[in-house]
Amino acid sequence: SVVDVDAASYEAGEHESFMRKEILEQPTTAQAVLRGRLDERFGTAHLGGLDMDARDLRAVRRVKILGCGSAYYVGQMGAALIEELARIPADAEAASEFRYRDPVIEPDTLYVAVSQSGETIDTLLAVQEVRRKGGRCVGLVNVVGSAIARECDGGIYLHAGPEVAVASTKALTNMFLGFALLALQLGRTRDLSIADGKRLVAGLERLPGQIEEVLAGEADLVEVARELAEARSLFFIGRVRGFPVAREGAQKFKEISYRHAEAYQTSELKHGPLALIDPEVPTVALVPRDELTERNIGALHEIDARQGPLVVITHEEVDLGEVRARRIVVPRNEPELDPILLTIPLQLLAYHAAQHLGHDIDKPRNLAKSVTVE
Ligand code: AGP
Repeated sequence: SVVDVDAASYEAGEHESFMRKEILEQPTTAQAVLRGRLDERFGTAHLGGLDMDARDLRAVRRVKILGCGSAYYVGQMGAALIEELARIPADAEAASEFRYRDPVIEPDTLYVAVSQSGETIDTLLAVQEVRRKGGRCVGLVNVVGSAIARECDGGIYLHAGPEVAVASTKALTNMFLGFALLALQLGRTRDLSIADGKRLVAGLERLPGQIEEVLAGEADLVEVARELAEARSLFFIGRVRGFPVAREGAQKFKEISYRHAEAYQTSELKHGPLALIDPEVPTVALVPRDELTERNIGALHEIDARQGPLVVITHEEVDLGEVRARRIVVPRNEPELDPILLTIPLQLLAYHAAQHLGHDIDKPRNLAKSVTVE
């Protein structure tokens, strides 16, 4: 395994928790999921484990991603990548709901189950629902030989190594990268140009180093995290590519800090939740440099005007003007790959908030690492 240990001997070592160790491992584990799968010459990815040839890949008319909790949110990031790069309609659904609505299973839809443990019962039963009705389901799974991996028609192993902390970090990053590889391969069997393919391959190769850069800024986030920990309720907001990132940020924060953290599309604020903004309710906003930056800054003004404390995760080039905010800058990659760099500071904010509050970070109350019973 990439972290050079097997699950039984994996220990937190000099780190005060597994979660912190797992956060810091990401530059290495991100390399592991990409290793041997990128093709610089043709600007594509090779995913032998999918067991699908070019004809099978071209036959896919729709992609449906199934996962629970954070795996579902990363699935939403993955759906956006697939739609953008391959121009195939794609969406993600909570695997825990899927089987209860007697879903229509289509032969030309590619179903993708996402799971770190490979043992989450809701995801496993969703896979069985797909396969019983004759659908093809591939897996994005971390644990080799797990129930979901065995149940799927093929898949992409995530190679993140053992993950012990209940709050998932490195496995989720590798899920995102797994989706990027899948989107690239699907895209290059269709209309994604070789130039765009090469641009994304180069972007993926840069990512592990950029994750390292974000982690190097950890010390600057500690104070911000402590301030957020004092709030009883927080918002996490983002738009389009940034919205699943906001959902994942809120999820991580609530799991280990026990604070009420709610994700919203920035565009939806004025349709309701703005009523809650006051000096006691901070907002963590994702404002990357993209076609929505100006609109996002408009929303920040609305929050600032109501004295809502703001933490903005953004790019160097973004000028927030008069807005009063704590600014956290992450490096830019290709816009399609930015979500994962925006996610890393959210892991650190959740971690340091929980640490400040003195919580058991690796084993938060009421939660299990994988939910294996219905
Ligand atoms: C993540 O931080 C959570 N602990 C949880 O939402 C998790 O992602 C979910 O239970 C799915 O687990 P899995 O990836 O092992 O299937």
